[in-house]
Amino acid sequence: MTIQEERYIKQFQKIKIKQIGKLIDEGMGNRVYEYGKKQVLKIPKISFIYHPPSLPHAKSDLQIINRYFKDYIQDTEIITTPKSDYYCIIQERITNPRHPTKNDVALLQDQFDDIVKKNIRLYDRHGDSLDFLGQQGLRECIYSLVVPWKKPHLFNIVISENKSSERLVILDIELLRMKERDQTLRDLRFRFVSTISYFLNIFFLRYCFGIHIKNNSAEF
Ligand SMILES: Nc1ncnc2c1ncn2[C@@H]1O[C@H](COP(=O)(O)OP(=O)(O)OP(=O)(O)O)[C@@H](O)[C@H]1O
Ligand SMILES: [Mg+2]
Repeated sequence: MTIQEERYIKQFQKIKIKQIGKLIDEGMGNRVYEYGKKQVLKIPKISFIYHPPSLPHAKSDLQIINRYFKDYIQDTEIITTPKSDYYCIIQERITNPRHPTKNDVALLQDQFDDIVKKNIRLYDRHGDSLDFLGQQGLRECIYSLVVPWKKPHLFNIVISENKSSERLVILDIELLRMKERDQTLRDLRFRFVSTISYFLNIFFLRYCFGIHIKNNSAEF
């Protein structure tokens, strides 16, 4: 953990520093650490280009994801402090998650179809969407345009395997938001970045994975 992260984490009484283990991975928004044996701790990254959603928006994203995609999520809790709007996330851990390729999409077609159907409903009702690719996925898709034999993976949805079945799990609880939620500059900025990400998702999901998230919604 970096010194800044340690300082950040100390504000949260609920988090036991000794339980924090190895860095597992990181995306655009979070650094993800082992937390105890069965959980992960996600510490938001704050930088010039990226600002995490505000606490109320993070909470509402989680609520929406729980409602629309309840079969595909891990137990997730947003940890807050009494004094500030800072937060971090504790989530049930998946051991050895597999990041899906186009082949996996074909193998798990029914689950992908169901998630896409729910995502279209979410977009139509709220103007929100899952970000399927994640920052690493987007990078791999762009790379595959130049090096076509490199197969990109999805990073925000993974395959959790146990002996008898393979289940898709949505790990990233941050939604892309295309509709106004409040009149702050932060929201405007978030919508701008979300809209670009949404169109990149539409294009690359279709081009690299054969997934069509923008549909004529009449059939649903
Ligand atoms: N519950 C979990 N169990 C195991 N690994 C996880 C878990 N959550 C996240 N990870 C790993 O960490 C990576 C990044 O996690 P996550 O998508 O939540 O971060 P992010 O920073 O919000 O991503 P983005 O780039 O989409 O903003 C995942 O792709 C996965 O490899
Ligand atoms: Mg992610």
